[in-house]
Amino acid sequence: MASFISAISFVFLALSFSITVESTLVPAIFVFGDSLADVGNNNYLDLPMISKANFPHNGIDFPGRIPTGRFSNGFNGIDFIAMELGFVKSPPPYLSIRNAIQMKKGVNYASGGSGILQTTGNGTLTMATQVKYFVDTKRALAKIFGGSIVNDILAKSLYCFVTANNDIFAYYSVTGAANSTANTKFISNLIDEYLGYLTMVYKLGARKFAISGSILIGCVPYIRNRNPTGGCIDELNQLSVQFNAAALPRIQQLSNQLPGFKYSYMSLYNLSTKILAKPDSFGFKELKSACCGTGKFNGETPCYPNATYCSRRTEYFYWDIAHPTQSLSNLTIQFQLYGSNSLVTPINVKQLIES
Ligand SMILES: *[C@@H]1O[C@H](CO)[C@@H](O)[C@H](O)[C@H]1NC(C)=O
Ligand SMILES: *[C@@H]1O[C@H](CO)[C@@H](O)[C@H](O)[C@H]1NC(C)=O
Ligand SMILES: *[C@@H]1O[C@H](CO)[C@@H](O)[C@H](O)[C@H]1NC(C)=O
Ligand SMILES: *[C@@H]1O[C@H](CO)[C@@H](O)[C@H](O)[C@H]1NC(C)=O
Ligand SMILES: *[C@@H]1O[C@H](CO)[C@@H](O)[C@H](O)[C@H]1NC(C)=O
Repeated sequence: MASFISAISFVFLALSFSITVESTLVPAIFVFGDSLADVGNNNYLDLPMISKANFPHNGIDFPGRIPTGRFSNGFNGIDFIAMELGFVKSPPPYLSIRNAIQMKKGVNYASGGSGILQTTGNGTLTMATQVKYFVDTKRALAKIFGGSIVNDILAKSLYCFVTANNDIFAYYSVTGAANSTANTKFISNLIDEYLGYLTMVYKLGARKFAISGSILIGCVPYIRNRNPTGGCIDELNQLSVQFNAAALPRIQQLSNQLPGFKYSYMSLYNLSTKILAKPDSFGFKELKSACCGTGKFNGETPCYPNATYCSRRTEYFYWDIAHPTQSLSNLTIQFQLYGSNSLVTPINVKQLIES
């Protein structure tokens, strides 16, 4: 009996020890979003190969050359955020977790192909599912640490959101974005839904939100490959611009309504246009073609095992049909964490976590 009790107190000691000596700048990171943030959830789902990345040549620059399910040659943006905050890499994918203790530094719920809307990304973890898993996470952590410790952890943690891209792409695919009234309605509805999820996560105790806007969707290799001119598709980019322009003031408004809600909004779109205007000064040489793939712009198929890949990967903007190289992700995160107002607003992520 005594040894049983001391074994229990040892466990508690070990737990509180690991909380207090943690040298990370936030206790945990929780990640919601799409393939830009996925670190392996889709490995566990019954999805077509295009929605997965757990095969070579993905991960060719990851430690051990392991294809983890990240849509990248190496780390993705979430890994770089996590590393800058003192973690080894992104928290684990939710679907890989077997024991609640694995959730104590956070969880990554992101799922490639998913979006904000329930109808986006059939078979993926949609935002509703990701938020539900966060509810389950909170409950499981509370069982181990107790409710008040968990509330404190959640309030100090960082919440990353990287989404909307697949919703916008799906809408464009179906409608061609030809009707501007309908476009505005779609964007406004998308933002309503988004704010609904942000509010749910806030009500569960989140306070610090690092929100990434939608990307330069119309210029990815997948799109250039399918555009006879080889150019970007402007209508798609305009939808992304419209989403970003409308989302930011709505998030600002939300932060006024929800006490303690703090955010940092990163304009991935504006960063891309900034880099594309002066690629040399950022070390990029190839801005149109993917490093890994097949066909025109390497945008025909994803980075399948039978695709070819480039050797000078640090000079490429795109890794595959739609995703950044780890060099671009790394650069992006430098701006998101430490950048100033023109790309990340109203504060950067470093200021957010110190706030
Ligand atoms: C979703 O995918 C499943 C198979 O994975 C299919 O049976 C179903 O019809 C799909 N639903 C929609 C709405 O496309
Ligand atoms: C454009 O979309 C609006 C709103 O969905 C709809 O009422 C209208 O009929 C559409 N116009 C055309 C020309 O399709
Ligand atoms: C390459 O691999 C993909 C995925 O396994 C497959 O669908 C495709 O047919 C292959 N292409 C060639 C030319 O073998
Ligand atoms: C990411 O960028 C930082 C700062 O430029 C650099 O020190 C680090 O080595 C880079 N990491 C990788 C994996 O490229
Ligand atoms: C992105 O650029 C647009 C157009 O220049 C600008 O209106 C917008 O404020 C920028 N967004 C951010 C978050 O800086």
